[in-house]
Amino acid sequence: MSNTEQKGFVLWFTGLSGAGKTTIADIVEARLRDRGSKIEVLDGDVVRTNLSKGLGFSREDRDTNIARIAFVADLLARNDVPVITAAISPYRQTRDDARALVGDDKFIEIHISTPLEECEARDVKGLYAKARSGEIKEFTGISDPYEEPLNPEITINTVDFEPEQSADQILEYLESNGFLATAGELEGAVA
Ligand code: ADX
Repeated sequence: MSNTEQKGFVLWFTGLSGAGKTTIADIVEARLRDRGSKIEVLDGDVVRTNLSKGLGFSREDRDTNIARIAFVADLLARNDVPVITAAISPYRQTRDDARALVGDDKFIEIHISTPLEECEARDVKGLYAKARSGEIKEFTGISDPYEEPLNPEITINTVDFEPEQSADQILEYLESNGFLATAGELEGAVA
């Protein structure tokens, strides 16, 4: 593909709170921008302050949140704007609905597979402690379900690899599957 043929796609991150979704999304976003690509990020925590303001964490509210994120992701991707979504998206069926909306050919499910014990040990936002004490109810992984993807396009291991390496893994997938021009192709386009 040439540098000018930007295709839309959705990098659908899923994983527990504190798994590293936002950290890796931010690096992939910067890398894509550096390559001259368009890119938009729909982060769960951010979406919940505007588009999904007022929604809680019942299954119904989570599904509404995810359906909204999928709706916007589809609008962007079909106009050739690549999108990263970074929400827990705990339910398999709801993720599959998002895949069906966006289209299988443009939907790349990325499991940020950090185990619960690791997320809880890191507890960056202090939410796991609150979930354990019962201060926060319906907390994913503690008192609410997380349904792991059965067949994600990419699985990211954040225990043995650094966020930069995880971003590399995602960029390599995009190149080898024709979503992004490789460095060689870019040079060819410039020459
Ligand atoms: S989702 O389930 O609807 O996909 P989303 O990713 O938007 O969740 O929001 C998750 C974020 O909300 C977490 O990273 C955490 O900061 C915060 N949060 C607050 N309460 C909960 C809860 N009960 N379960 C999970 N996350 C929660």
